[in-house]
Amino acid sequence: MSDPRIIVALDFASVEEAQTLVARLDPAHCKLKVGKELFVATGPALVANLVDQGYDVFLDLKFHDIPHTVAAACRAAAKLGVWMLNVHALGGRAMLSAAREALEITPSRPRLIAVTVLTSLQDADLAEVGISGGAQQAVSRLSQLTQDCGLDGIVCSAHEVAALRRERGKDFLLVTPGIRPAQAERGDQARIATPREAIQTGASYLVIGRPITQAPDPLAALEAILQEIDLT
Ligand code: C5P
Repeated sequence: MSDPRIIVALDFASVEEAQTLVARLDPAHCKLKVGKELFVATGPALVANLVDQGYDVFLDLKFHDIPHTVAAACRAAAKLGVWMLNVHALGGRAMLSAAREALEITPSRPRLIAVTVLTSLQDADLAEVGISGGAQQAVSRLSQLTQDCGLDGIVCSAHEVAALRRERGKDFLLVTPGIRPAQAERGDQARIATPREAIQTGASYLVIGRPITQAPDPLAALEAILQEIDLT
């Protein structure tokens, strides 16, 4: 499998826990996501090590700052050899463009995607911070801005994928968390979709954490999901 569609979220607080899981996976079958908890607890050396082990790594640090600072952070991430990284679309046009331009001059340009609206925010929360019109409208507007600025895609809920695929065209990356195989525990995820539903409606990559990381046999859990999304 040259471009695995599953990104396993390494939501751990230590190198040991992360590496124990990684040792049971295979870079031919999945990519990995390193988020704020693991990165802050363990630092960039782990990311470089995962890249050395052959994994495509999505560095999920959601940069949001002035354009100069975000551009510098993106360059630093690219030096670690990550496959994909992300920023907040709410950083605005200049920040998004600066991030993209910073990566253009790196040797193997990582993919750059944006978070539009955090799924933890309800319409009332958005109104409180001055964003009127509701989450759906904000997601649509910010995904358009992201595409206009030349980024590769966005993070979105599986429930938004079908509409966004129509709006943004076939090549825009739609990366979806909140995925639960039919038999799995929901955990704290409320608006979930199965891997098959997400892929069928147009998701590019699926971010999956606990259904794999907490499974008694993580590799078997991953393989069951890969079978589920094999639409051939
Ligand atoms: O364990 P689970 O499959 O719920 O993990 C999903 C991963 O995706 C976690 O790393 C979580 O932080 C991330 N995520 C999410 N929902 C979003 C954005 C990111 O669950 N809207």
